[in-house]
Amino acid sequence: MIRLGVLVSGGGSNLQALLDAIAARTLDAEIAVVISNVATAGGLERARKANVPAVAVDHKAFSSRQDFDAAVVAKLREHKVDYVVLAGFMRIVTNVLLDAFPMRVVNIHPALLPSFPGVNGQGQAFAYGVRVAGCTVHFVDGGTDTGPIIAQAVVPVLDTDDEHALQQRILEKEHALLPAVVQWIAEGRVRVVPREGQRPRVEVRGVVPVLGLPC
Ligand code: GRF
Repeated sequence: MIRLGVLVSGGGSNLQALLDAIAARTLDAEIAVVISNVATAGGLERARKANVPAVAVDHKAFSSRQDFDAAVVAKLREHKVDYVVLAGFMRIVTNVLLDAFPMRVVNIHPALLPSFPGVNGQGQAFAYGVRVAGCTVHFVDGGTDTGPIIAQAVVPVLDTDDEHALQQRILEKEHALLPAVVQWIAEGRVRVVPREGQRPRVEVRGVVPVLGLPC
């Protein structure tokens, strides 16, 4: 069974979706540790409630992002983590983490990348006036939300929406997409295919890696 390290900064509803999927046996993985840069993060509380080791590593105690990441990597190794999931982790990660877990760090972003990377993807999409929005799960590389895309989920933007309503509709899809992708990884379906002179492509064997659209 794959062992996950989940990194959170906030409420941790995506972490909860993973915990719930594990409890429901739709996700065949174990969360070995939850780490947050914010000691008061709701995600740490959710982990404790589920009897998962919860660790706070305060980024302000480190003089560089690399040093902070080294402390996080030490915790991940201590808990024998195979894959790292960034679930609302509001820090830019460095090569220290990425080199320790090459193509084994995944992120959930609340927009259809490559549109609207960075903070508040939902708000950016709403402000732009797009008609479809959604979320993306991707492998993390050195850029901000630029890594190879594994799967996406799509929602409509309605005339009656405000930013909050759209955010909620996207969040619901995040809670479905993230556990599904981690399960595909656990089943060994996900492979990064390098391509000469192009971005690597992610192959997801045997499933359609899109939610919210008829296929
Ligand atoms: C989610 O929208 C996630 O995509 C974004 O931050 C939010 C975190 O929510 N990166 P939660 O902490 O999982 O509830």
